[in-house]
Amino acid sequence: MLPVPTAAIIVVAAGSGTRLDAGAPKAFVGIDAHSILRHALDGVFAAAPIQVVVVAPAGFEGDAETEVRAAAGDRADLTRVVTGGSTRQQSVAAGLAALWGDVRTVLVHDAARALTPPAVIDAVITAVDDSTGILPTLPVIDTLKRVEGATVIAPVDRSELAAAQTPQGFPRTLLEQAYARAERDGIEYTDDAALFAAAGHPVRHIDGSSRGFKITTPDDLVRARHLLAATAVQSLAQPVAQPVAQPVGVPRVGIGTDAHAFGGDGNLWLAGLEWPGEQPLSGHSDGDAVAHAIVDALLGAAGLGDIGEHFGTAHPEYAGAHAEVFLARTRELLAQSGFGIGNVSVQFQGNRPRFSARRREAEGVLSDALGGVPVSVTATTTDGLGFPGRAEGIAVTAIAMVMAQVDANNAHDPESNEKEQS
Ligand code: CTP
Ligand code: MG
Repeated sequence: MLPVPTAAIIVVAAGSGTRLDAGAPKAFVGIDAHSILRHALDGVFAAAPIQVVVVAPAGFEGDAETEVRAAAGDRADLTRVVTGGSTRQQSVAAGLAALWGDVRTVLVHDAARALTPPAVIDAVITAVDDSTGILPTLPVIDTLKRVEGATVIAPVDRSELAAAQTPQGFPRTLLEQAYARAERDGIEYTDDAALFAAAGHPVRHIDGSSRGFKITTPDDLVRARHLLAATAVQSLAQPVAQPVAQPVGVPRVGIGTDAHAFGGDGNLWLAGLEWPGEQPLSGHSDGDAVAHAIVDALLGAAGLGDIGEHFGTAHPEYAGAHAEVFLARTRELLAQSGFGIGNVSVQFQGNRPRFSARRREAEGVLSDALGGVPVSVTATTTDGLGFPGRAEGIAVTAIAMVMAQVDANNAHDPESNEKEQS
């Protein structure tokens, strides 16, 4: 049997996520197919083996247990779930009370820092000694000002400052004493390093990681989703030598085509842009054949049906809608089914509009609507052939690549059988 590790990590996940406002406690909000808590735990279990205490919101202990078991694999006996308190400090205290007797080094980690690399966790464990607390930090990049109301008072020397992250690591006994002291004094500290330092102990800082940002607002969640999608694409480009426990993307491609005739009143809408003075395309919505082809490519790649099913005449709420609405909803449908988008490439055939001058603008609008994934748009004429060549309308073809977020160790394609599982 392997020796029981003498380090433990307390993953605090008991917050409500008021600022994220996603209708569930933050730790249980999905980034992709997996929750914030699950991603945080995947990072923890990819680091060197240590004991793991998860602090869950009251009433969500069972859900936390499920996530821990899924992430822990054969290390489930090194885990515990306890109920948190009404402040982060109380939640950490509940975690401390649940530590095993043999633990000497304790790390405290925000579940909300779900993408923290395992290497940061390892570095913190290594750096803690008998007397010193360890804090991962990032340099402050922005120029900082001291302000009073609307008035800027003075610059702040940012070389003196660093942004604090987690996990923060401490010698267990000293952290417990510091917590007892804070409780006795009734003081709430902003983080564990501050509480530890207030008890008179030294704290050193080491390099954190930009991936260790705290998912706090809806924008942070979007950032996390992009980072995961980008990582999945990279991991496809560089096959991993050994299976890893983190989610990787399984690529799937989809194709979408669309054609619309010119007709009707008003301006043309194409590739997410309005084209003043150009003849419009007729259609149930704004006739944006580029956006519609992309929607079909994405839905097709994910096996989620097609545009008619989700946006057709049975959905009058989309009558007249523009590309952003279709694409944002499509992205949402994919995310709900656990798919991240890799990239989209779309081409239209038509004599007009003259496209090249507005290519970047169109790509920006389409990409933004899909949450920032790369979208490229090309245009061609057909040498006068066919309906695009006769200027009767426009034909579009789109291809999209999406990834199902799954474990390499436990590959489970939504449509496959259980062949990977032994
Ligand atoms: N946390 C906790 N118990 C609390 C409050 C916070 O365990 N009573 C945890 C959160 O789950 C999170 C970490 O502490 O992982 C950092 O807190 P924060 O980002 O502020 O999360 P929330 O408190 O959930 O969010 P908000 O402040 O927006 O409500
Ligand atoms: Mg909070």
